[in-house]
Amino acid sequence: MEDQTKFKLQVKAIYRMLLGIFGIFAIAAFTILVLLSNPQLLVKSKPGVQALNEGYSSVPAEDDYDKIENGIHVRTGLVDAEGLMTVVNNCTNCHSAKLVTQNKMNEERWISTIRWMQETQNLWDLGPNEEIIVNYLVTNYPPTKKGRRENLKDIEWYTLN
Ligand code: HEC
Repeated sequence: MEDQTKFKLQVKAIYRMLLGIFGIFAIAAFTILVLLSNPQLLVKSKPGVQALNEGYSSVPAEDDYDKIENGIHVRTGLVDAEGLMTVVNNCTNCHSAKLVTQNKMNEERWISTIRWMQETQNLWDLGPNEEIIVNYLVTNYPPTKKGRRENLKDIEWYTLN
């Protein structure tokens, strides 16, 4: 082979090598830039963890955390009344407060629901808070009466002929 051709081939090979190295650097730099701007891409989270993170981000800002609006505790939807925070702190950790407010019960049934959760769902011993909680529930979420309506009063009856 002629020396000149040999030289040309060598230049070509070096050129290709440099191009390859440059390409690798470009890809690496791009990847680093993308990862720096989206660090969460590095942490592969399980769906559960993801849901938790989304849950956390939807927690209102510190100021709104225990805001009461129109007599309602905004974060949980519970009625603002005596014992509210005791209920919030003990009854909204495992499930939505809706599960609490949708169940209107008398004292006996509230207590048996609490016992059931303690026996089967790892609900802790509520101690003196139990009375506060049950009072709050019975007062603000009493059973809805399904009996017949009250008798009509002050009605002017007329006789059918
Ligand atoms: C340790 C977790 C935990 C805590 C704390 C907890 N619960 Fe529950 N509770 C559960 C589980 C689990 C269920 C069943 C949920 C389901 O069926 O999806 C449940 C169900 C309920 C139900 C529905 C019962 C039914 O018969 O369907 C009510 C009402 C309720 N809880 C009220 C409360 C009240 C009031 C408190 C506060 C004293 C409370 N929970 C605290 C775990 C808990």
